[in-house]
Amino acid sequence: MEVYSAKFVTSNTDVSKCPEPDRHEYAFIGRSNVGKSSLINMLTNHSKLAKTSASPGKTQLINHFLIDDKWYLVDLPGYGYARTSKTQRSQFSAMIKNYILKRENMVCLFVLIDSRHEPLKIDLEFMEWLGENGVPFVMVFTKADKLSTTERMNCIAKYHEGMKDTWESMPITFMTSAETKLGRVELLSYIDELNQL
Ligand code: GTP
Ligand code: MG
Repeated sequence: MEVYSAKFVTSNTDVSKCPEPDRHEYAFIGRSNVGKSSLINMLTNHSKLAKTSASPGKTQLINHFLIDDKWYLVDLPGYGYARTSKTQRSQFSAMIKNYILKRENMVCLFVLIDSRHEPLKIDLEFMEWLGENGVPFVMVFTKADKLSTTERMNCIAKYHEGMKDTWESMPITFMTSAETKLGRVELLSYIDELNQL
């Protein structure tokens, strides 16, 4: 599948203000700075559709992008950014969780994980919360351009090791880079498959 058009639709803080849930959507979540906005730009072949920044905490709202007039990509604020206030962190967390639980047309959540780090408790706990709430998700490792092929395989293996006691089977996993476009074809094909359902 190729993406021909991508348009910004809305930014808001509340699931009730999102566009009508009349078409499939796929949302990107993960720790602040993991590369959510960059991956949306990579998939849509735009350099500035979603706002990115080297400093964490850039995306603060729920942002909808309409793709080929048919489906939505959604850029969400990151979780776990230590330098925001506790109140702001809990507001973000409530906004994200409310969106995830209430957005009826969200077909799959893409949980982004920085491939350079050892498995982090915050990511493992977030995925457990998704599992407990029956939210369909896949794992998307980011920034793979920083790793060798062996390091990429080790990264996935370590996550699977850390998850095997909690999960009966592993979620589908993608390895990506917004820099080299690694994983673009695979992610778009996966979305295309889900769009046919
Ligand atoms: P918040 O909106 O703050 O939650 O962050 P985000 O998850 O949207 O991250 P963003 O896309 O803004 O990227 C954060 C930083 O990581 C930027 O400096 C990007 O250039 C960099 N980055 C993102 N993806 C990649 C990648 O695949 N490879 C490399 N090398 N850097 C990346
Ligand atoms: Mg962002």
